[in-house]
Amino acid sequence: MTVLNTNHILTFSCIVSAAVVILGRTCSCLQFTYPNFNTSQKDDFSFSPGSSITNGSLYITPNTGNISHQSGRVVYARETLKLWNSKRTSLTSFRTEFVLNILPQNGSAGEGMAFILTNNPSLPSNSSGQWLGVFNNQTDGAFENRVVAVEFDTRKSYKDDLDGNHVGIDIDSIKSVDQIPLSNQSITLSSGSDVWVGIKYDGTTLLFEVTLIQYSTSGQQHVSGVSRLIDLSLGLLDDIHLVFAGSTGDFTQLNQIKSWNFTTIDNVGRGHGRKVLLALIVLTIFALCLFAVLFMWRRLTRQRRLAYRNLEKMIDAHGPVKFKLKELRRATANFSPTRKLGRGGFGTVYLGYISRMNLEVAVKRVSTNNAKSDRGEQEFVAEVNTISKLSHRNLVKLIGWCHEGAELLLIYEYFPMGSLDKLLYASARVSNLSSETSVLELTWERRYRIICGVASALDYLHHGSSKRILHRDVKTSNVMLDEDYNARLGDFGLARVIQHDGVTHHSTQAVAGTRGYMAYESFFTGRASLDTDVYAFGVFIMEVVSGRSPSSSVSYRNQDESAGSTREAMYIVDWIWRHYGEGNVLAAADTVLRGVYDKAQVDCAVRLAVACCHPNPRERPSMRTVVQVLMGGAPAPEPPYVKPAFVWPPSGSQSEIQLPHVGLLFTGGQTSFCSMTSTSLTGR
Ligand SMILES: *[C@@H]1O[C@H](CO)[C@@H](O)[C@H](O)[C@H]1NC(C)=O
Ligand SMILES: *[C@@H]1O[C@H](CO)[C@@H](O)[C@H](O)[C@H]1NC(C)=O
Ligand SMILES: *[C@@H]1O[C@H](CO)[C@@H](O)[C@H](O)[C@H]1NC(C)=O
Ligand SMILES: *[C@@H]1O[C@H](CO)[C@@H](O)[C@H](O)[C@H]1NC(C)=O
Ligand SMILES: *[C@@H]1O[C@H](CO)[C@@H](O)[C@H](O)[C@H]1NC(C)=O
Ligand SMILES: *[C@@H]1O[C@H](CO)[C@@H](O)[C@H](O)[C@H]1NC(C)=O
Ligand SMILES: *[C@@H]1O[C@H](CO)[C@@H](O)[C@H](O)[C@H]1NC(C)=O
Ligand SMILES: *[C@@H]1O[C@H](CO)[C@@H](O)[C@H](O)[C@H]1NC(C)=O
Repeated sequence: MTVLNTNHILTFSCIVSAAVVILGRTCSCLQFTYPNFNTSQKDDFSFSPGSSITNGSLYITPNTGNISHQSGRVVYARETLKLWNSKRTSLTSFRTEFVLNILPQNGSAGEGMAFILTNNPSLPSNSSGQWLGVFNNQTDGAFENRVVAVEFDTRKSYKDDLDGNHVGIDIDSIKSVDQIPLSNQSITLSSGSDVWVGIKYDGTTLLFEVTLIQYSTSGQQHVSGVSRLIDLSLGLLDDIHLVFAGSTGDFTQLNQIKSWNFTTIDNVGRGHGRKVLLALIVLTIFALCLFAVLFMWRRLTRQRRLAYRNLEKMIDAHGPVKFKLKELRRATANFSPTRKLGRGGFGTVYLGYISRMNLEVAVKRVSTNNAKSDRGEQEFVAEVNTISKLSHRNLVKLIGWCHEGAELLLIYEYFPMGSLDKLLYASARVSNLSSETSVLELTWERRYRIICGVASALDYLHHGSSKRILHRDVKTSNVMLDEDYNARLGDFGLARVIQHDGVTHHSTQAVAGTRGYMAYESFFTGRASLDTDVYAFGVFIMEVVSGRSPSSSVSYRNQDESAGSTREAMYIVDWIWRHYGEGNVLAAADTVLRGVYDKAQVDCAVRLAVACCHPNPRERPSMRTVVQVLMGGAPAPEPPYVKPAFVWPPSGSQSEIQLPHVGLLFTGGQTSFCSMTSTSLTGR
């Protein structure tokens, strides 16, 4: 270890070069700009019969001859969009902008146009009229269409169509999953004047956003838009064609695209040919220098390194900021009790103010008992390491950390609104005071968005990155709210990283969690798993829908013909399952909502919740499926009407032993399921 070994350098630079070459090759960096269109560029596109480049614009449907009952498509033909980013760590993010102009030819417009992402670029037959050149009578609704479309509809042509001037998002069917009227925003698609359209997709958060802008003759700007969580990988395959489609019917219009640009946003390097070569050389040289410097530095700081070895080794070079204890003491008024925000995970959380960043933060001080033990430090390092690699808009961001002496501290984003449980139960209190005037903060719309957000975050943890991450403590007090009432899932104190490979590692040791959110089987296995997270998420939905705490029993009114109504104490899972089984899903909704909610969404949420809380872990949906259902990409599950008895081990394994209804075991109030030894229950 005295000289810089040349073999090391060579090996290292080879690895770097290989990495750069691989990144360069698989880079999905589709990008183009057409300020206008010129007939000399016609080879960049493929046109269906009658569509063309005319007068500097793309004409999606014919502009001469018989223009009624026509449909057409223009496909960008030079390259396809890759579904995944180059590292295949997330879906490709992209941004596209175009200017459309729709000119009616018969006074009234018909029918509309669409921007579509699809694996099937060719124009379907008989796709004129209401089908917008995207679907036809036979293909409508079929998964095989592999179409995600933004429609610009200028005619109401069937029952579910909103009106003759709307924008909508269509997935495999002309019946939009979301549609927004434009007339009340003073935007008219078919006015013959330009409409600027921007579409943005974030491959990690799955947010698909459409924005429309039109200027009135007086120069006033009118803006509208629609957005939705869409997991493109559920419907689309890898090579995605970018397509404009349009149609006419009895009434006709010219469907024009005047300019268009498209950019993929990939956090991995982009560039071609010489740029890649140049980057490779620069990077190699840089890496060599870095390597040499690191090597020297490591030797010089060997002593210090030993002290911190466990910690430093595991924290990414680009990881969170390292703070000095002194600064954090100052930021939290020396951990003053008045700054205490609460207790969570295995430590206390304080409000801090970092003056050099002008930033309010939440400082989690890992309790000294934990910190002293080996286990505390290990968990701390695991937490820092895991969280620093995660980035999702529904996760609380880790800003930094500090480890000095026996003090272990984590610094997180601070959310002044606090955690969801506070608001959930505060709003219940308000309604008890029966003040009709008080404004309900947690409206159904917000609750549903919170459920979607937490689902998306969990899906990201479970399936979104190369490592599987369990949350292990999903509950309302671990969900923060930002100022727009978006959910931010926090507290990964218990998170453990599980590799994808190795079948035996799909669960981890050391059961942890919060009563009321713990799945039945965890009392037997003593393990957390993807399934126990899903169970906790099911309870979470129930809590958000009903505004009732899972740790206390609720009374259920039995409508008994003979005895009038009797009451029975039940825990939330049984309570909601009972309502579901009786086809009375809406009775589970929080009374403070006063019936103001989207019935279909409540129904969907309750079905999902019940499915997630299935006693048999194998029957629970994955978070992937949950997200798919929440965004309307899959039908809501239909769990059995009567909660099945808990059987351990789950059916399929040998030596099944039937247990009494678990609800009964729980209704004994504090009678703990845990207190029975697993041997007495499993007979093993
Ligand atoms: C179209 O492109 C050709 C060749 O690139 C050029 O000569 C011509 O001026 C362009 N026409 C327009 C309208 O831009
Ligand atoms: C193209 O421009 C010419 C001349 O300005 C005009 O006569 C013609 O109608 C235009 N064609 C279309 C389809 O707008
Ligand atoms: C125009 O074309 C459509 C579709 O091919 C056809 O249904 C319609 O009858 C035609 N109209 C005229 C006037 O030729
Ligand atoms: C294209 O991209 C540029 C910025 O890259 C933007 O300014 C312009 O408005 C975009 N839109 C169109 C339709 O060209
Ligand atoms: C629209 O115009 C075309 C030709 O100008 C005509 O054939 C057609 O009948 C008109 N349609 C309606 C509904 O007026
Ligand atoms: C298109 O419609 C015509 C008449 O409506 C029908 O004869 C033809 O079979 C249809 N084609 C397809 C592919 O459905
Ligand atoms: C297709 O069209 C025929 C007649 O035009 C209609 O009877 C049938 O219901 C349509 N099918 C669908 C799936 O819309
Ligand atoms: C326009 O109307 C729709 C539905 O009627 C409504 O949801 C939306 O909030 C309205 N927008 C404005 C700005 O009034």
